[in-house]
Order: sequence, then structure tokens, then C-alpha cells
Amino acid sequence: MLRWRHPGSIARLPVRLPPVQISGSNALVTGATGGIGHAIARELHSQGARLVLTGRRTDTLSDLAAELGARELPADLSDADDVDRLAEQAGAIDILIANAALPASGRLETYTPEQIGRAVQVNLLAPIALAHALTPAMAARGRGHLVFVSSLAGKAATAGAPLYNATKHGLRGFASSLRIDLRASGVGVSTVFPGFIREAGMHADANVTLPRGVGTRSPQDVARAVARAIVENRGEIDVAPPALRLGTALAGIAPELAAAASRRMGAEEIALAYERAQREMR
Ligand SMILES: NC(=O)c1ccc[n+]([C@@H]2O[C@H](COP(=O)([O-])OP(=O)(O)OC[C@H]3O[C@@H](n4cnc5c(N)ncnc54)[C@H](OP(=O)(O)O)[C@@H]3O)[C@@H](O)[C@H]2O)c1
Repeated sequence: MLRWRHPGSIARLPVRLPPVQISGSNALVTGATGGIGHAIARELHSQGARLVLTGRRTDTLSDLAAELGARELPADLSDADDVDRLAEQAGAIDILIANAALPASGRLETYTPEQIGRAVQVNLLAPIALAHALTPAMAARGRGHLVFVSSLAGKAATAGAPLYNATKHGLRGFASSLRIDLRASGVGVSTVFPGFIREAGMHADANVTLPRGVGTRSPQDVARAVARAIVENRGEIDVAPPALRLGTALAGIAPELAAAASRRMGAEEIALAYERAQREMR
């Protein structure tokens, strides 16, 4: 079987390997206790995955694990040793869904160095460490898939959230480079970019009013995108209404113009509202 550590042999072999099937695969879902994590776990369960679920809130984790017949492994991703323990105890994992994150909202000067470290550790270093720990065994088996849940804030800058933007842009860079490196190993890599998600999760919990006309998607939409990313081995999938996706794409081409337009739509006031609602979660 192909291994990602041997690029010389990979270069001479066919590169199109069949995508991973969800049914019968062992899938580790981080942030399973959250709004989107619940939807992802239920979607993968409905498609026949065997689940290992993780989060910090043990009661919520146990309830979901019981509902889905899943294994539960509580872990604090802000602790690097706990991340290593999670990877070790999870066993043979075919699919990693790196979904957990802190909202990391608010201007930089409102953060302590410790809070900065925690945001980067949970949102970026923990997904990297889990990928590092789990990928060699996937490559050895010649099958596996890594899905990173980023955000449209990982494609285009948003006001008043430099740490969230940094970690979500970081995930995109990490995943897209890793996808190239793992191309021939049988391990797929995808990044999913939700916009504003209604009903459950960190945006819904913050209860911030969006400008008129800014549409939302549901946690189930994100979950279906995660499943599609795996079965179709897609590099990137946005989960947002067309106008928001278009705005994000334009911001990639003309960031100054996009920043001015979103300022006029009240982006700075909205950022302040998130900061107030999510300050206790740093
Ligand atoms: N909701 C949106 O509108 C939206 C938009 C774009 C992107 N996203 C992304 O979607 C993903 C899921 O977010 P969500 O909306 O479902 O948010 P959420 O409901 O707040 O869930 C966040 C999850 O991350 C886990 N988590 C946070 N800190 C942790 C830590 N130190 N150790 C272990 N787990 C930790 C939480 O677990 P515990 O609470 O059990 O600790 C929870 O399960 C995130 O990556 C987020 O950035 C969300």
C-alpha cells in the first residue's frame, strides 16, 4: 500500500484512488457536543459510520453517544497532552472530522496572551496534531479522510475577529497543502466553510442580528456538506447562500473594497455584539 512518506514511489503510481465510503468507517468527530457537531454526528451515523465522539461537556456527550450507539472520549483540546491521548485512545480511525472550535471573537487588544494561546491551540494546533497522529495509519491502510471545519472567515477577513480569522485561514492553508501531499496515499483532505448557521451552534447561541438580506444555512446543511466532501473527495465546500459565497469570492480579489462594503453594512457593530456575547468562552 502507498505511504505518504515515500514521494519517490508515489510519483510513478496512478493517483486516483476511490474515495472513502462512510458506511462501516470509524469516524472521530471533535466538537460533537456543539450545534454543528451534533448534526455531523447524526448525519454520519445515518450513513452507517461507527462513531467516536469527543467534546468537554460530558453530560451532552454521553446523551449523544447513547442516542447514536457511539463511543465517547471526553477531551480538552486546549491541552496538547489531552489531544495526544485522544488520538491514541480513538484507535483505528478512517475519518477525522476536526470540527471543534472556540468562537475567538473580539479585537486583539481585548485578549490576554493565555487566551490567544488557547484560541490557536483549540482551533488550529489541535486539528493539526490530530491529523499528524492519525494520518500515517490511514495512509498505511490506503484509505482515510480528513475534514476540517473552517468558516467563510477562513477565506475572507471579517472585522473584529483577528484570532478567529487567523485560525480559520490557517486551517485552509494546512488542509489544502496536505491534500496535495496525500493525493496518492488514499487519504483525502477536505475543508468545509460554513457561513452563518441558524438554529444551533456558536452564531445561533450568540443571538446577534444580521443585516437584512444576509442569509443563513442549517447545521444539517453543514453535515450534508461534510458527508459529500468525504464521498466525493472534494477539496473545499462552502455552506452559505449564493450572495454570501459571491461576496466572499469578491473579497478574495478586492479585500479593501469588500472591507469598506461590509463596514457600511455595520460589520464593526456586529463584531462588537459577538465579542460581548462570546467573551466568557475564551
Ligand atoms: N455556527 C456558525 O455559524 C459557524 C459558522 C462558521 C463556522 N463554524 C464552525 O463550525 C464548527 C462548529 O461550531 P458550532 O457552531 O457547532 O459551535 P459550538 O456549538 O459552540 O460548538 C463548539 C464545539 O467545540 C468544542 N470545544 C470548544 N473548546 C473545546 C476544547 N477546549 N476542548 C474540546 N472541545 C472544545 C465544544 O465542546 P464543549 O462545549 O463540550 O467543550 C463544542 O462541541 C467550528 O469550527 C466553528 O468555527 C460555525
